[in-house]
Amino acid sequence: MSVKPLVAGNWKMNPEAGNFVELASQILEEISKIEGVTKVVCPPSVALREVSNALEGSHVLVGAQDGHPEASGAITGEVAMGMLSSVCTYVIVGHSERRAMFGETDEYVARKAVSAIASGLSPILCIGESLDVRDAGDALSYVHDQLVASLDGVDNPETLVIGYEPVWAIGTGVSARPDVAGEMAESIRSTLTGLYGGEAALNVPILYGGSVSPENIGPYIDRPHINGALVGGASLKPSDFGRIVSLVASIRG
Ligand code: 13P
Repeated sequence: MSVKPLVAGNWKMNPEAGNFVELASQILEEISKIEGVTKVVCPPSVALREVSNALEGSHVLVGAQDGHPEASGAITGEVAMGMLSSVCTYVIVGHSERRAMFGETDEYVARKAVSAIASGLSPILCIGESLDVRDAGDALSYVHDQLVASLDGVDNPETLVIGYEPVWAIGTGVSARPDVAGEMAESIRSTLTGLYGGEAALNVPILYGGSVSPENIGPYIDRPHINGALVGGASLKPSDFGRIVSLVASIRG
């Protein structure tokens, strides 16, 4: 597998105290010397510029947590992908929290992915099934359909990243079994191969997300089609995040 591993920290709406630069600097201290892994932090949009400035010159990249597909207009409260591209490199699209809380559909997520790529950003496209879907035995086909629909209009996957985050594993402390996540990653790779051909599909990093910790990351990264992690809670703890990045580097770097 030629794709470079990637670990992204999704800070979500944290830290409450707003000490974004302090957190970024502490994370930088932990991970700046680790090589062989693409390292990304995704702070709230208000902090993108300051975190980006604080990390300048390091090999830690910045991502936004969302962006709007339109280029500009009367859309109160939103930030266009093109506007984000001056302050960051990545953008998360289709996170399950946005799908659940803000009613984002696959079609809308696909427009975001298309707009992100057109703006020069790398979309981290999140997909994943609910517990009901998993219990019904439909997880593989559900995620296949969700992925295909969320990539509608994406012709070139060169900068694409996929985050497989089973909804039931997010923030629950109940991570997916590595063999379950590995099976899904293999299925995602096969869907990507069907859409873009084998070579292009192999270059798309597939991340596992959902209660990732330094204690459980190893077996995920051992799976052939899992190329990294999308980390929520543990990304707010610099030493935990540092250990995760370091373990990914030692296994895959
Ligand atoms: P947790 O690592 O807190 O479960 O969050 C995962 C996530 O949603 C990352 O995008």
